[in-house]
Amino acid sequence: MPWYIRKQYKDTERRKIFSGVFDEATLLTLYKMSNKGIFETIHGIIKSGKESSVFLAETKDGKEVAIKVYAIGASNFGKMKPYLIGDPRFEKIKRDKRSITFAWCKKEYKNLQKAKNAGISCPEPIAFANNVLVLEFLGKKMEAYPRLAKTKVKDPEKLYKKIVKDLIAMYKKSKMVHGDLSEYNILIDNNEKPYIIDFSQAVILSHPNADDFLKRDVKNICRYFKKHGINCDSDELYDKIRR
Ligand SMILES: Nc1ncnc2c1ncn2[C@@H]1O[C@H](COP(=O)(O)OP(=O)(O)OP(=O)(O)O)[C@@H](O)[C@H]1O
Ligand SMILES: [Mg+2]
Repeated sequence: MPWYIRKQYKDTERRKIFSGVFDEATLLTLYKMSNKGIFETIHGIIKSGKESSVFLAETKDGKEVAIKVYAIGASNFGKMKPYLIGDPRFEKIKRDKRSITFAWCKKEYKNLQKAKNAGISCPEPIAFANNVLVLEFLGKKMEAYPRLAKTKVKDPEKLYKKIVKDLIAMYKKSKMVHGDLSEYNILIDNNEKPYIIDFSQAVILSHPNADDFLKRDVKNICRYFKKHGINCDSDELYDKIRR
């Protein structure tokens, strides 16, 4: 059943509809965003996870958008710290869970902007506030594109080339390393076009761990494509990206 965030709902009614789905503060953030016209209707959940949940929503004009809600309780400064330190954009954040989660959300928005500007195939960031990020919906007719991990690819060679092109653009043009790249953070459309997602942990090249993260990303990509018959050497790919 669709859920509506509309003005005509009294707070108590809204609370009933969303109880167990969103906490009060997130509900207020969503309400404010919908009042600004960023989206109108939330249809349902695409994926729920420990750290974030992604929802399908629609704008007044009938355009689908994705809403990523970061769980505040799940934020773990110890785990997030290595990705935030060394990034001048996020040096001054406080260490409480709320501030960290909000920074994490803003970071994904900013990183997606950078990636998009570099021509990388990824969702367009639309808006963010607190722990809520609104993105271009990657899917058709309300159904999200599947993850690469769950897709049977017909032309792995072509797909590999496209991903390498994006990795080079990410490094050279947006001067960033994804940091969590694998077949789980790539969505595939019907024409086997890849979309890289999940940029909250991406770091800029001056980050002290950027190189290690790149090595790990490249290893994951090579591991996947080797399994699918592509002659992929992670050292070579690493050099090619940095060259
Ligand atoms: N823009 C989008 N359009 C459609 N589906 C999306 C979009 N963004 C994310 N998803 C779906 O939601 C899932 C989780 O998104 P994402 O990877 O950004 O969050 P996450 O918190 O890292 O989750 P996970 O830990 O599962 O990787 C994706 O695997 C994908 O299925
Ligand atoms: Mg992910």
